Amino acid sequence: MNRKGFTVWFTGLSGSGKTTLSNLLHHRLQTLGITNVEVLDGDVVRTHLSRGLGFSKQDRDTNIRRIGWVAQLLTKHGVPNLVAAISPYREVREEVREMVERVGGKGSFIEVFVDCPIEVCEKRDVKGLYARARRGEIKNFTGIDDPYEPPLNPELHLRTDSSTPEECTEKILQHLRAKGLIPEVEVKTGS
Ligand code: ADX
Repeated sequence: MNRKGFTVWFTGLSGSGKTTLSNLLHHRLQTLGITNVEVLDGDVVRTHLSRGLGFSKQDRDTNIRRIGWVAQLLTKHGVPNLVAAISPYREVREEVREMVERVGGKGSFIEVFVDCPIEVCEKRDVKGLYARARRGEIKNFTGIDDPYEPPLNPELHLRTDSSTPEECTEKILQHLRAKGLIPEVEVKTGS
């Protein structure tokens, strides 16, 4: 059984691929026999833990602190957790990193910059929100009329416009293996 807790923190614009990558990584970890993984997705968290919060800096910071609090609890108890949230502000991301590393040790927080040009995110516009933001129907939309502060020193910097989700996920797995956070070999689930 895997006992090492860690937090993989995906940060990036809406539509950059955070949810896709967290789901794919979740699946790949399961095939490695690591079944006690939790995914915390901003869109989902906002329907429960952060219900009622908006998108002002203050509300976003509160949202991220709440997610970070849960992430550190999971890490403390050896539960690998994957967070997918825009988390646009550097300072609060650093705060969360410290919270997680305090209980999980150095290296237990893996910041993954999901980097994709806004033009590509906007073209994908899976939820139709960029179009609405451009029409002025949504205010303070990240990348349009609200800031995004890219990580300065992330553990991983992935370009989702030029690599496939599978390639990106493999890079994360390589990092986790190199840090001894997951085993080297795949085990069949159920064996
Ligand atoms: S965060 O800034 O607080 O980290 P979070 O990841 O939880 O954001 O939620 C982002 C999601 O909320 C987006 O993927 C999008 O679906 C939706 N959303 C609605 N309004 C906004 C907005 N003004 N800016 C960014 N995302 C928004």
